[in-house]
Amino acid sequence: MNMMKWTLGPALLALSQLAAAKPVNNTKPLVNDKALQDAIKVENLYKHAENLQAIAYSTPGRNRVAGSTGHDLTVEYITEQLNALDGYYDVELQPWEGYTQTYEEISFTVNGVVYEAQVVEYSSNLTATDVPLVVVPNLGCDATDFPSTVSGSVALVHRGSCTFAIKSQNAKAAGAIGVIFWNNENAGVVAGTYGGILDDAVPGGGITQADGEALVALSSNTTLTTSLEIATVIELVQSNNVIATSKYGSPDNILFLGAHSDSVAAGPGINDDGSGTIGILETAIQLAKYSTKAQVKFGWWTAEESGLLGSTYYVESLSDEELLKIRLYLNFDMIASPNYILGHYDGDGSEFGETGPAGSAEAEHLFEEYYESNGLNHTATEFNGRSDYGPFLDAGIPSGGLDAGADEVKTQEWVDQFGGTLGAILDPNYHSAEDDVANLNEFCFGVMSKGIAHAVATYGASGFEGFPERETAAKRSVGEGTKAKPTHKYPYRFPTIL
Ligand SMILES: *[C@@H]1O[C@H](CO)[C@@H](O)[C@H](O)[C@H]1NC(C)=O
Ligand SMILES: *[C@@H]1O[C@H](CO)[C@@H](O)[C@H](O)[C@H]1NC(C)=O
Ligand SMILES: *[C@@H]1O[C@H](CO)[C@@H](O)[C@H](O)[C@H]1NC(C)=O
Ligand SMILES: *[C@@H]1O[C@H](CO)[C@@H](O)[C@H](O)[C@H]1NC(C)=O
Ligand SMILES: [Zn+2]
Repeated sequence: MNMMKWTLGPALLALSQLAAAKPVNNTKPLVNDKALQDAIKVENLYKHAENLQAIAYSTPGRNRVAGSTGHDLTVEYITEQLNALDGYYDVELQPWEGYTQTYEEISFTVNGVVYEAQVVEYSSNLTATDVPLVVVPNLGCDATDFPSTVSGSVALVHRGSCTFAIKSQNAKAAGAIGVIFWNNENAGVVAGTYGGILDDAVPGGGITQADGEALVALSSNTTLTTSLEIATVIELVQSNNVIATSKYGSPDNILFLGAHSDSVAAGPGINDDGSGTIGILETAIQLAKYSTKAQVKFGWWTAEESGLLGSTYYVESLSDEELLKIRLYLNFDMIASPNYILGHYDGDGSEFGETGPAGSAEAEHLFEEYYESNGLNHTATEFNGRSDYGPFLDAGIPSGGLDAGADEVKTQEWVDQFGGTLGAILDPNYHSAEDDVANLNEFCFGVMSKGIAHAVATYGASGFEGFPERETAAKRSVGEGTKAKPTHKYPYRFPTIL
């Protein structure tokens, strides 16, 4: 294993400014698809993966969570790699500061029976022992929904129609000491968020639809008594996005590629999203031998795991004029999953019914053709905004990307197409300490990283000629789709805030 040769704490901004001062080499050949793909070597991908893992394991937390030393060193690693390319990129750090929930635990018992529950993100602490659990009629979106009996009690509130924050604020105004939300769809426990720290909300948790229905039914003939314990730690953290902008190509026609640089607290995050981080980093390194017609930009986002916070902050920092120059955003989050699928976001909505702004379909078709030209099966994955392309889509920017799978359960159809283990999730180490180098799938990592190179070479060389022009208003449509949505093992919080 390589010893880390980068050092702690140099002035990164100064470094990038030095690099930026070098003159542009105008004699580079136009990027070539085959050559760029051939330059992506699996051994280089693994070298980066070993380095990211060594970074995580060099810190007490053994992770790369936003705000930690492991994440700061990851940002430094990416920056140093980019600044070693003779000034090909302007490398910028965008500081971000925000509250992230770094710890959570919940225990919810009713009449002696323990129910599966999840903490609402940004909930405060609660210890309530043997207090009434009061069913709230209606949806809790109106102050008058709460009966006077919720005073001093935990309120049981149905999900839907308004945010968890509003329901919780209404509960508090009525004197409740806590709230439990039950799901309005058969999709596991409610994984809600208050969207930030709220002084006028009560601590909250979420349970399943079935458990909620059972408790409501039970309340008709039985007094419900609950013990509810919620513990969270919420910390203000400072962190950075890394943005690299090529000096080549038209700045009015930007191809933007992104991946998240942070991991969860549980482990080093080498697939999630070390793999995407590395896929675009190695492509950025190899691209530096070439010129392009479109300008190529790369973003490594912080605090994705806390709710797409770094990418959202970046998108919100751009003016409308700057946003309009982005012709396409491509996202890569988990591209080496052990029980992989060869996925591409369903940008044309053909499978799951949700389309993106014009250009999203074309991006999906580019990746479909890439897989097919290599004789590989492929499958569309839900275009649900569950990673950093969400904020770009919300800003009306056509998006796409590759996806080897997270906590979706592998179906027989996927086994037929890609092999692997039926009934297991696509990354069995998802958000765990075992998300390490040893568990990457080498074949998938190579195929998808070369797919990134293919997209960069294609749009880099064409300068987006023939690609749909940008539209000013976001054009997303949500329809029915033809395919059943995959089953997820874990609930997810974002972008579902209702
Ligand atoms: C410019 O780049 C080309 C192609 O990478 C290389 O052959 C040439 O030596 C470079 N010239 C300078 C002055 O760096
Ligand atoms: C919950 O309590 C713990 C232990 O006292 C404390 O460290 C933590 O900050 C509290 N959480 C919140 C959100 O206040
Ligand atoms: C009370 O209601 C629950 C749920 O509807 C039911 O299972 C239970 O048998 C009822 N108990 C009595 C004593 O009626
Ligand atoms: C592609 O999937 C089909 C089943 O849909 C399977 O028969 C075939 O072997 C797969 N091809 C490859 C290259 O894995
Ligand atoms: Zn991820």
